[in-house]
Amino acid sequence: MKRKVGIIGAGHVGSDVAFSLVTQGICDEIILIDKVEAKAESEALELRDMSSMTHFHTTVTANDWEGLKEADVIIMAVGPETLLRQDRMEELVETSRSVAEIVPKILATGFEGIFVNITNPCDVITMLIQKITGFDHSRVFGTGTSLDTARMRRVVGEALHINPKSVEGYVLGEHGESQFVAWSTVKIGGVHITDYKTETTLDLPALKDTVRFGGWNILTGKGWTSFGIATATANIVGALLSDAKQVFPLAVFSEQTNTYIGQPAIIGANGVIDILEPTLTKEEQANFSNSAAVIRKAFDLL
Ligand code: LAC
Repeated sequence: MKRKVGIIGAGHVGSDVAFSLVTQGICDEIILIDKVEAKAESEALELRDMSSMTHFHTTVTANDWEGLKEADVIIMAVGPETLLRQDRMEELVETSRSVAEIVPKILATGFEGIFVNITNPCDVITMLIQKITGFDHSRVFGTGTSLDTARMRRVVGEALHINPKSVEGYVLGEHGESQFVAWSTVKIGGVHITDYKTETTLDLPALKDTVRFGGWNILTGKGWTSFGIATATANIVGALLSDAKQVFPLAVFSEQTNTYIGQPAIIGANGVIDILEPTLTKEEQANFSNSAAVIRKAFDLL
């Protein structure tokens, strides 16, 4: 059975997701789709140029809407024309309009797989996709705070001079300004970060802001971000296609708050298997509720 992925949006993010999937051999077929068909064609052509040099074989085509019917996963990676902004919520009007136009076209193909949303504001757009499709919540989720969590692990790793892979813990809430580091979950080798022996004085509020501004710091320099989100998305797609039953911090539907919001979730071949609710401090629980309110308020504007 061919592992097939559709990517809607062949901009920096969608193209780098495709590049990551091809170089890591995560799927067998990719369909790249963009409203500027020539863009998708060119990105697909460039990825096919790689096929004699990569260790895996991936068939990459462009703008084949009908081919989405058999896709296992569709990644929504459409973005606004202008990216420079202080808050991802500023993209909502433009991206919600694009997604509301695209999703019915996907449904018309007969697609019955899993939606993974990247499009910002991620949590709100993920909620919109689920509302339009009526798909079970398990088959519609977003990348959520997966990249924010990676940024937290990088920032803590650099502060403590240890490999970020050895930093555990999560950023939760909105993939946006109301996100928060759940410091009560952050450990190094099982040792809670506040008990970790180091000469470095850790300013946790400052580290949290460094994480939160992570995307902005990159955006102001190069005009967009893509490598981090593309790598996070490739890992998520790999877990879906291999039925990995692996935990990621994702924008998943929270019964508690009636919104999509960043939480640790177990995913496998059929999408979200379970959502985990780590024990949070009172302050962290208040941050989570605040983030949910921000997301819900934005969704209610649609
Ligand atoms: C970022 C984009 C993916 O945080 O929102 O880099």
